[in-house]
Amino acid sequence: MEQTGQKEFLKSCVRFWQNTSKTIGFVPTMGALHAGHLSLVERAKAECDVVVVSVFVNPLQFNNTADLEKYPRSLSEDAAMLKTRGVDLLYAPEVADFYEAAPITSFDFGSVSQFLEGEKRPGHFSGVGIVVGRLFHLVEPDRAYFGSKDLQQLAVIKALVKDLAFEIGIVRCDTFREASGLAMSSRNARLSQKGLETASHLHIALKIATAGAHSGDLGNALRLAEQYLANQPGIELEYLSWVNAETMQIIRERGNSPEIAICIAAWVEGVRLIDNMIM
Ligand code: PAJ
Repeated sequence: MEQTGQKEFLKSCVRFWQNTSKTIGFVPTMGALHAGHLSLVERAKAECDVVVVSVFVNPLQFNNTADLEKYPRSLSEDAAMLKTRGVDLLYAPEVADFYEAAPITSFDFGSVSQFLEGEKRPGHFSGVGIVVGRLFHLVEPDRAYFGSKDLQQLAVIKALVKDLAFEIGIVRCDTFREASGLAMSSRNARLSQKGLETASHLHIALKIATAGAHSGDLGNALRLAEQYLANQPGIELEYLSWVNAETMQIIRERGNSPEIAICIAAWVEGVRLIDNMIM
């Protein structure tokens, strides 16, 4: 595996692969890699000739400086893990190399970012759009892999690709979970053993909601899940909402949405966690 922080080296690899007709798979990450990230890498390996992974903690998408400072970083461990997975190139730039100047462009993803993360983290998706758009221009992938754990991010990326005519297939990958059901996340590294146990109740709440929705209406199912969470000490709920999984609009009834999801954001031990379950 090659590793670089230099755009020019990355671009020369891309040119070489394109000249030799290789399909390029891309997995953008912020590092502190876990089995969830690796499941995306494995899927990319299976479907593409070469795989590029980026590790870059993008300051533009943090609306909270403390969160940015506390974001876990472990580049040498990340590189070792990616090497054993047969990744071809790890692109891990420094902030100053990646953004030669602070971007002045911003994105507004309209209705897709109206609720949930878009509402609670102003500017977050604009920062995601800029970094992913820039990475797409540098890596020029045929396919890029994203986790459904960040469901609204996926909808934002799809809008970016469609609106800016990127010729890139966006592949949605399932959420990888701990045995407890807790969605794997780099932020879990900031939780104590007790916090990890507490956080696993988020997944139970999502299961209560989806089970309730199978047998009854969405509003009742939501209330059951909210009641469950209210009885779990150590969880501060930020939102729990049903959405149309494609448009990310909040829904109260299933209507004719082809796919719906229950989305949650909650705080445990001062760490903000998100998760969802698609029906
Ligand atoms: P990061 O949180 O590092 O996640 C990188 C990719 O891994 C995202 O597509 C995310 O949805 C996916 N992922 C995270 N946890 C997962 C899990 N438990 N199972 C499956 N996939 C999982 O998301 C970002 O970084 C950034 O916003 C980024 C897109 C890299 C732009 O900076």
